[in-house]
Amino acid sequence: MDSDAAKTRKWGFCEFYPRLLSPRVAVLVVALKEDGAPNVMVAAWHTPVSVKPPIVAVCISPGRYTHSLILKTREFTLNIPPPSMKEAVEVAGSMSGKDFDKSSLFKFSPAVKVKPPIIADAIGSIECELSQVIDVGDHSIVFGNIVDCWARGFGEVWRRESPLLHLGSNFYTVMKEVF
Ligand SMILES: Cc1cc2nc3c(=O)[nH]c(=O)nc-3n(C[C@H](O)[C@H](O)[C@H](O)COP(=O)(O)O)c2cc1C
Repeated sequence: MDSDAAKTRKWGFCEFYPRLLSPRVAVLVVALKEDGAPNVMVAAWHTPVSVKPPIVAVCISPGRYTHSLILKTREFTLNIPPPSMKEAVEVAGSMSGKDFDKSSLFKFSPAVKVKPPIIADAIGSIECELSQVIDVGDHSIVFGNIVDCWARGFGEVWRRESPLLHLGSNFYTVMKEVF
């Protein structure tokens, strides 16, 4: 093992391995609170799982307020932030809606098919109805049936603007080149 590899071992592979699978879009998950106001959390652990029918999976720790809201209301939206939203993403991803009203961090627009709104300045949004939840380790895999989605400045791939991509901890990046 070379010395670089040895350093990573000291850090601990449990926290380390997700970073090897990064970057991923820092998705903003919007779910409705009991009073009908939107709550927003950040999730970078997500993946498409089926094309037909369209299903997405998001890994959400059971301790998150969003987890309980999605289980209750059974609907959520996923919103793709541009890099200019980094500060709001950091707040939404570090404060819980249990203690802090995060709705003033973002502007919202009505979604087409679900009750939780989409984020107005996001470069893309995906509307989901809860399909199932599977608890795995310290997260739940929340599966969403996709009922609508759109994106701005999108041809076949992200081109006009990069989504905000999460590398781990407080490190982010953007796409600089498409090839
Ligand atoms: C960039 C970033 C990515 C995150 N990804 C996840 C994730 O995939 N799953 C998760 O459970 N929490 C993730 N978090 C943490 C939650 O967003 C954070 O705990 C948030 O405050 C939960 O809000 P809530 O309690 O209002 O639901 C992430 C945070 C950041 C900043």
